Amino acid sequence: MSRPTHTTTTVLVTGAAGFVGTHLVDLLLTSGKTVIALDILWTGSSTIIDRFQNNDQFTFVEHDVVQPLPAHLPTVDEIYHLACPASPIQFTKHPRRILETCYMGTNHVLQFALERTAKVLIASSSEVYGNPQVYPLSESYFGNVNPFGPRSCYDEGKRVAEALAYAYRQENRIPIRIARIFNAYGPGMSPTDGRIISNFMVAALRGEPLIVYGDGHASRSFQFISDCVRGLKLLMESDVDGPVNIGNNQESTVKEIATLVTDLVAVRTGRPRVEIQFQPEREDDPVRRVPDARRAKELLGWEPKVGLAEGLARTFAMYEEWYNST
Ligand SMILES: NC(=O)c1ccc[n+]([C@@H]2O[C@H](COP(=O)([O-])OP(=O)(O)OC[C@H]3O[C@@H](n4cnc5c(N)ncnc54)[C@H](O)[C@@H]3O)[C@@H](O)[C@H]2O)c1
Repeated sequence: MSRPTHTTTTVLVTGAAGFVGTHLVDLLLTSGKTVIALDILWTGSSTIIDRFQNNDQFTFVEHDVVQPLPAHLPTVDEIYHLACPASPIQFTKHPRRILETCYMGTNHVLQFALERTAKVLIASSSEVYGNPQVYPLSESYFGNVNPFGPRSCYDEGKRVAEALAYAYRQENRIPIRIARIFNAYGPGMSPTDGRIISNFMVAALRGEPLIVYGDGHASRSFQFISDCVRGLKLLMESDVDGPVNIGNNQESTVKEIATLVTDLVAVRTGRPRVEIQFQPEREDDPVRRVPDARRAKELLGWEPKVGLAEGLARTFAMYEEWYNST
């Protein structure tokens, strides 16, 4: 593999072929960075290669972070470590592999950062707070996580990733950024990944009922993907040490989100609104999750710009295209 010239910042993005990674790579390339995109193409898609292959600042490396990072990788300035499935479907199918990715993968990335003196941003998650008992969620809350349950592989995996980052920072003085990402959505989210907005969009387009688990009063705070990746880049380029919530504090109940989607799809397709059906709530599903985003605002000057209604409309266009092509 050719070694990128070191005149611009060279950035390694692990998990680059996934939903967040693809948008982040796009933003970094647009900002003039040289990007090495690394992924095993598990939940991500090879479309990233087609999309950027003509950009000479882009290189793709197929690699599993559970194995040490390839020695032939060039020196990099920054590493965004995103590699890890984020879809709950994978939590039940491949819990051991997710834990290996979180622990061994993060360890290999930090080891590589140490050898190459690179700055690292760890994509952590609001899931480190588990099923929280305080609202809104500030970075100082330690969480309420079930270590022995269906979401443990991911929740505890993200917690151990943060603990590893802390250990490397203490022992080796690696510059670390921790982004606790709250639910992101937008174009590029796989229609089959089982996350709430993709499930709702796909069901509504197919004319099927939207399934809400519980009574619909559970809440979520969704951020549009362009806001999310802008926040990650600002955090990486800052000198902020310690975890920062990257999330939109506009809170909506799951029922409100389902209603917004049914209305949007009915208006855009001219078809009748689909029904919303309620099913028993799922084990360990958080009841409420809203970030305290003050730290990001005060330290990074970051605030979300895209509201839910606008973001859903922008997301719908991609789902409609996908639906019409299937
Ligand atoms: N999307 C969200 O709302 C959200 C919220 C909180 C945290 N995050 C975190 O952000 C990161 C990206 O999330 P996403 O939504 O893009 O998920 P995604 O599943 O779409 O992308 C993850 C990518 O990582 C790759 N990957 C997984 N295991 C790997 C391994 N062992 N080696 C190399 N590549 C591997 C996958 O193939 C995929 O391309 C994840 O770490 C996730 O935990 C995302």
